[in-house]
Amino acid sequence: MLSYAGKKIVITGAYSGIGAALLTLLRDLGAEDITVLDLKAPEQPVARFIETDMGNPVAIDSAAAAIGEGVDVLFNNAGIAATRPAEQVMRVNLMGLKRLTEHLLPTMNSGGAVVNTASTAGNQWPDNLTVIMELLGISSWDEAVAWIHDHAEVIADGYFFSKQAVQVYTMLASRPAIRRGVRMNSICPSPVDTPLLPEFRQTMSDAIIDWAIAEGAGRVATADDMARALIFLGSDLASYVNGVNLLVDGGFTAAMATGQAQLPTQAAS
Ligand SMILES: NC(=O)c1ccc[n+]([C@@H]2O[C@H](COP(=O)([O-])OP(=O)(O)OC[C@H]3O[C@@H](n4cnc5c(N)ncnc54)[C@H](O)[C@@H]3O)[C@@H](O)[C@H]2O)c1
Repeated sequence: MLSYAGKKIVITGAYSGIGAALLTLLRDLGAEDITVLDLKAPEQPVARFIETDMGNPVAIDSAAAAIGEGVDVLFNNAGIAATRPAEQVMRVNLMGLKRLTEHLLPTMNSGGAVVNTASTAGNQWPDNLTVIMELLGISSWDEAVAWIHDHAEVIADGYFFSKQAVQVYTMLASRPAIRRGVRMNSICPSPVDTPLLPEFRQTMSDAIIDWAIAEGAGRVATADDMARALIFLGSDLASYVNGVNLLVDGGFTAAMATGQAQLPTQAAS
C-alpha cells in the first residue's frame, strides 16, 4: 500500500527542504518515474528535471505538455515566503499550483492523488472564504493577477492569503477529482527547519516562530516529518482520505483550539 514502484510521479520544489526529503523517501519506496519541476536541479538523481518557474504560466504550460498524460501522484510543494513581493508569492504558491493541477488532473490515472503543501498559516481561511472563492473562480491568469492587485488589502503580504487559498482549493477541487477516482489533500505544516525558515523569521518575527514551535511539539519540525505525511496522503494507505487539509503541526492547532496555548500577547497579559 505504501509502495511507489511503477507510479508516475511529479513533484514541484524538490531542490531543498520538504521536497528534497520527499524525494529521498519516494526513492526508498521504489519510485523511479519521478519528474521534478523547480528553478534548480535536485541533487538526487531523478528520471526527469524540467527547469520551471512555478510563477510563470508559459513555463508551467510547457512543463505540463512535456509531462503528458497518466500521472499517478502530483505533489504541489514549491512555495516562497513573503520576503518576495505579494504578487510573486501568489503566483508561485497558489496560481502556479492551480494551473499545473488543472493541466494534469484531467488525464491522471484513477487511484491517483494530488497532495498540496499548504500551511498552518492558511488556517484562517474561513475569514476570507468569499473572496477566495471569487479568485479561484477566475480561469484567466492575467485576470487573476489583476484581481490580486485590486485586492491588495486582503492579500497583504501574500503568504497567509495564498496558503488560505491553497487550503480552500484543496477542498474545492477534491470533489470533481474524486469523481474521476483521484484524491486531493494537503498537508499544513507549522514551522519546519528548511532554508525557508529564516525567511519566515524575517517576515513573521522570531517571537512568533519560536512561540509556534514551543506551543506545538516543543521541537521544530524536520523536512522528513513533513515528507512522511506527504507520502501517506499520496499512497494507497489514504485510499478514502479526500479533501482534507491535514495539520502536521505537532499539536499546535489543537492546543490553540482547546485554550492550552494562547497568542503571545495574551500569554504576556
Ligand atoms: N519551512 C516552513 O516552516 C514551512 C511551513 C509551512 C509550509 N511550508 C511550505 O512548504 C513548502 C516547501 O518549502 P520548504 O520549507 O521546504 O522550503 P525550501 O525553500 O527548502 O523549498 C522550496 C522549494 O521550492 C523551489 N522553488 C522556489 N521558488 C520556485 C519557483 N518559482 N518555481 C519552482 N520552484 C521553486 C525551491 O527551489 C525549493 O526546492 C512551501 O510550499 C512552503 O510554503 C514551509
